[in-house]
Amino acid sequence: MADVLTLHQISLTIRGKTLLKDINLSIPKGSFITLAGPSGAGKSTILKICARLLTPSSGKLLYNERDAFLIPPQDYRRHVSYCFQQPVLFGETVADNLNFPFQIRNQVPDQERQHALLDQVNLPADYLSKNIASLSGGEKQRIALIRNLMFEPDVLLLDEVTTGLDAENKQIVHRLIDNYRQKGTILAITHDQEELAQAEKIVTIKGGQIHE
Ligand SMILES: Nc1ncnc2c1ncn2[C@@H]1O[C@H](COP(=O)(O)OP(=O)(O)O)[C@@H](O)[C@H]1O
Ligand SMILES: [Mg+2]
Repeated sequence: MADVLTLHQISLTIRGKTLLKDINLSIPKGSFITLAGPSGAGKSTILKICARLLTPSSGKLLYNERDAFLIPPQDYRRHVSYCFQQPVLFGETVADNLNFPFQIRNQVPDQERQHALLDQVNLPADYLSKNIASLSGGEKQRIALIRNLMFEPDVLLLDEVTTGLDAENKQIVHRLIDNYRQKGTILAITHDQEELAQAEKIVTIKGGQIHE
């Protein structure tokens, strides 16, 4: 399979500190790659470069064999979507968040699609009018994830999205990810033993480098 993302000799140095050194990683279309390794190793930094939230000091990031940094960022983010460990919701209500993917595409929010995704994460349709301040951590993560999946991206970057969730929330999120997995490509970071045990391919990062 052709790569959807390719990291070629990526290094990142910030204020004299080397965060990443010579990272080479092929992410074939349809694959599910898991990054593991100790805290501070550089895993989130790799995902942020893939999301173009950080620019490498050297090396190349390719998206479908094109230089990813030459693609307009707003286009790129529709194809490659980054999910934070601590979900970031905005505005006041769940609807503010689930309307957003339509608004940036100049489209009228599709309530049927919103309801279908809420249903996938075990939330009722009337959650659209809920104030985000009243949501539990697990509910916030579920809303953030379905916001990222409203229009399915080519690549989903998952940065410890199940860390801190209880068993029930974790199961709901796993089901959502499994469903996306049939269609897209995933690069995920996890420390979860169960997720590591079931991982398709694990790449270990240590001290800013890939550990063979
Ligand atoms: N913007 C930044 N500026 C300077 N140092 C950073 C920055 N972001 C992360 N770091 C440092 O880079 C290292 C790797 O961080 P990170 O990628 O978050 O690790 P991991 O996700 O593997 O726990 C850590 O030592 C962290 O403190
Ligand atoms: Mg991290």
